[in-house]
Amino acid sequence: SHTVRDRGRFILSSIWTETARPPHFAALEKDCKTDGLVIGGGMAGCLCAYQLVQRGMDCMLVEADRIGGTTKNTTAKLTMQHGLIYRDIARHFGRESALLYWQAHAAALREFARLCARIDCDYQPQDSDVYSRRESPALEEEFRTLERMGAPVIWKDHTALPFPAQAAVCWPDQAMFHPLKFLHHIAKELKVYEKSRVLHVDEHTLTLENGIVKAENIVFATHYPFVNVPGYYFLKMHQERSYVLALADMERELRGMYLGIDTDGLSFRNWKGHLLIGGAGHRTGEKTTGGQYQKLWHAAQKYFPGCRESARWSAQDCMTLDQIPYIGRYGHTRKNWYVATGFGKWGMTGSMTAAMILSDIISGRDNPDAEIFSPQRRNIPQEAGSAANEIGHAIRGLVGGKEVQKPVRCTHLGCHLTWNPEEQVYECPCHGSRFDEEGRVIDGPAQKDLSTS
Ligand code: FES
Repeated sequence: SHTVRDRGRFILSSIWTETARPPHFAALEKDCKTDGLVIGGGMAGCLCAYQLVQRGMDCMLVEADRIGGTTKNTTAKLTMQHGLIYRDIARHFGRESALLYWQAHAAALREFARLCARIDCDYQPQDSDVYSRRESPALEEEFRTLERMGAPVIWKDHTALPFPAQAAVCWPDQAMFHPLKFLHHIAKELKVYEKSRVLHVDEHTLTLENGIVKAENIVFATHYPFVNVPGYYFLKMHQERSYVLALADMERELRGMYLGIDTDGLSFRNWKGHLLIGGAGHRTGEKTTGGQYQKLWHAAQKYFPGCRESARWSAQDCMTLDQIPYIGRYGHTRKNWYVATGFGKWGMTGSMTAAMILSDIISGRDNPDAEIFSPQRRNIPQEAGSAANEIGHAIRGLVGGKEVQKPVRCTHLGCHLTWNPEEQVYECPCHGSRFDEEGRVIDGPAQKDLSTS
């Protein structure tokens, strides 16, 4: 069992972390030159490096800490079913764009299937349902949009969930896997340096603690991009947290993967007799009362009486203004910098999509999907989310700080941090940086610890 208590508190560690053995890579200790350099050893970074190598490029990857940082907390669904995304993209950008989004993710899924055929990573084809417990015109619209696009989706009026769902849209033949077993395998085929934090990036030159790297092309796959200018990602992206509870010894396997679209909606998937229940999300830095795991635990007890918890952990996701990831050039003034970020709740397929698009762009191949993901796209609709809203949060962060007794400022752009009692960390409501009790950075975009700022 993974149920570990530390002085009455759960150790927050994902079921993936507990069941995989990570490879170790040495730190970079010398100056070097490379065609491609990827910053960040999560799923996006490793896949980008992998695809670049596949295209014949000399490529290396540097990771500030250990590989798999954000990836270890995913629920690891490999699906084109992304909530109500096709409805939203078709509304704002037209059906053509929704079709491109689908195509890009379909290609990503095929590539996962191809790679997983040779990697021992618990890959398993499964259907994926997006469901509502209420009458949902939004879900109907999603279904109609997909039907018109020719997607092979199925409308259902019941699911295998232990409570009634009014309706569900089912994407057949999606998949799920063990994200770290997969990532570790991919990383072993790459030139990776761990514990190698990038301190400074100039056009082609990266300064690390113990070495200078000259790179033709640089990919920022650091979850949240940490260089503020160019790019200005802090004006168009925030972070959200969500929580996962794993239940052990589930008598009956719940087949399939599920995502609830209602405000209190839950997500489900199985892994080897454990049932993962996800939900209770909120903007990072805006939940100072705790109780999120408790919500999931109440739901678990209600639907699976007598259940036993095997692990609990939380995840952090980057949310863009229009729900479409930012994949492409970092900013206008740096032609050789690239970025992969903003995957929302869909980091696995988003990472592969990013890897395929960026490796094509960098190696000079045409990729028809690239345009809708371009970070420089200008047609982000007002109602899709707004930069003004992001700035509003940032201003509240700058003047706020009520929740922390003595105001503590974030080392990114100076917003006031809040205290998350449940996870015992400081969080920034502006762009989602997080710091542990001692003030050490655990999540960017902040790069400096509190004590050293
Ligand atoms: Fe940007 Fe804190 S994360 S100011």
